[in-house]
Amino acid sequence: HHLRPFVLGLPKTELHLHIEGTLEPELIFALAERNGIQLPYPSVQALRDAYQFTDLQSFLDLYYAGAGVLITEQDFYDMTMAYLLRMRAEGVRHVEIMFDPQTHTVRGVDISTVFAGLARALREARDSWGLSAYLLLSFLRHLSEEDALVTLEQALPLREAYLDLWIGVGLDSGERGNPPEKFARVYERCRTLGFRLVAHAGEEGPAEYVRNALDVLQAERIDHGVRSEEDPALLQRLIHQRTPLTVCPLSNLKLQVVDELDQHNLARLLRLGLCVTINSDDPAYFGGYLVENYLATAQALNLTAPQLATLARNSISASFLPDARKLALL
Ligand code: HPA
Ligand code: ZN
Repeated sequence: HHLRPFVLGLPKTELHLHIEGTLEPELIFALAERNGIQLPYPSVQALRDAYQFTDLQSFLDLYYAGAGVLITEQDFYDMTMAYLLRMRAEGVRHVEIMFDPQTHTVRGVDISTVFAGLARALREARDSWGLSAYLLLSFLRHLSEEDALVTLEQALPLREAYLDLWIGVGLDSGERGNPPEKFARVYERCRTLGFRLVAHAGEEGPAEYVRNALDVLQAERIDHGVRSEEDPALLQRLIHQRTPLTVCPLSNLKLQVVDELDQHNLARLLRLGLCVTINSDDPAYFGGYLVENYLATAQALNLTAPQLATLARNSISASFLPDARKLALL
């Protein structure tokens, strides 16, 4: 794509990224071997060939299975460092990374192992090439609120040690039937504790879930949010509040949230004046990292260079960076 050098050179951040979704099939196989885990696929290619999704749940089944190879601190470090090296190559200046501790603690992996591996990679990237990063601990919405509260309590003793990284919480996994209200208490507790708040809403779930993520959870940023378009009053509110949406075009395509990329509403939302950003979600599963998401979207929706620059600027202003750092990047 002729805009590739331009997009590579844009100062930009990634704000919607599940670190477990960066596990490439090659690394899944390598970690399985290192940990003596038998995978139900004969080869890397067979695993990659299985990545044919019809909806969010069909993806989540493989995503949680893939994360089952993560056992040691080194595993979490290797996964994270592989992603950060790609972001360095793509001209990304800052990342806000979600991680799903419940996926690991349920298998007997200690939450401190998860934090330690992620943090070692993130601090190394910061110290060696100036890529900054924050962590958003994400609760799995298909599990109970009680489980989320227990997870929060397990993580809180680590807060001091990771104050430079762990700044907020998120909500992910199967959306339908798991509305934001289910997590009202845990979000209230997180708010009281001073955490920044994001939540997935309006990916497969209705616009009402976006509304309740704002009203009940007091989310400051909405992950996906593309179904907000179904509620004009909500759209006006998102515009006036400048609530950012972290949109993931290739994810929406692969999970059949849209049938074709040229039907994606990202350009419409951008024209309406929403603070839309482009992100990769689970790049190892959806066929492209951040720059690929920019370029595929530009191609499908005929985005211009100035529009791509706006999207990159939005990614900086929608981040949780201090204002001084935002200004330096803009
Ligand atoms: N939606 C919900 N949960 C997720 C996703 C997503 O796109 N990716 C990883 N967990
Ligand atoms: Zn997501």
